[in-house]
Amino acid sequence: MGYQTIAIEKVTGGLGAEVRGVDLSRPLGDAVAGELRRALVDHLVLFFRGQRLTPEQQIAFSRLYGPLQRVPYVRPMEGFPDVIRVLKEADERRISTFGNAWHSDFSFLEEPPMASILYALEVPEHGGDTLWIDMYEAYEALSDGMKRMLRGLRAMHSGRPYGVTGAPPKDLRTSRSIGIERNNPEADREVAHPVVRRHPESGRKALFVNSIYTGRFEDMSEAESRPLLDYLYQHALRPEFACRFRWQPGSLAVWDNRCTMHYAVNDYDGSRRLLHRTQVQGEKPMLAD
Ligand code: SIN
Repeated sequence: MGYQTIAIEKVTGGLGAEVRGVDLSRPLGDAVAGELRRALVDHLVLFFRGQRLTPEQQIAFSRLYGPLQRVPYVRPMEGFPDVIRVLKEADERRISTFGNAWHSDFSFLEEPPMASILYALEVPEHGGDTLWIDMYEAYEALSDGMKRMLRGLRAMHSGRPYGVTGAPPKDLRTSRSIGIERNNPEADREVAHPVVRRHPESGRKALFVNSIYTGRFEDMSEAESRPLLDYLYQHALRPEFACRFRWQPGSLAVWDNRCTMHYAVNDYDGSRRLLHRTQVQGEKPMLAD
């Protein structure tokens, strides 16, 4: 195991940092591993460039953040049940793609993933970026009155895009290459999570609702919930809370799903985009008092 000195440079005034000087294919010493764990808590999203990782090496790196969690409703990579291939083929035009709406990964699970890791193998020459939002900042920028109103509230999350009620309309073309399971009634099951969650490591409060998986507030109808949910989504999308990453082959991003949302931009029809994705088991979201 060699000695590695890493450098961490913020990419915006808010969230996101690029980490240099580390080869993620090699075992990391305790000091570097500790720095990378701390860096994720501090910066919410970390970016690495110029990596060359086999699926086994990506799995080994991902375990730095905890035990892996299998992705539900998406076909795993052959021989690697912990890895999915996020793929859009060049001939898949005008389709809806994986992650192309603001979300926190699989927030409908009882224990949603704490982190996700995405490693780029093939990317379009232009486009196909990913954006993240800092949900601590989004929470903190709310008025005191709104914070009081949200205190103690829970929202209902479900895996609607994989279920029956939220199945894409018949005329909407979806990706064939990623292997998403649809129309599974089990995915419609709702799980209640706090609207404002406390991060177990930073202790900070983050807004925890997203437009793919959050359908309504607990004990309220969808129609009653819609105006406030829409307000919170629109409020969270201020450019000041965002960062954007331009992928290159060999780029890797790690993000904390407990305090961010992200969005995969689908602006690259005619090009192939392939990334390997792993995720780390999280805990039951904690209600912030
Ligand atoms: C995801 O939402 O996990 C995928 C993001 C991306 O493809 O950029």
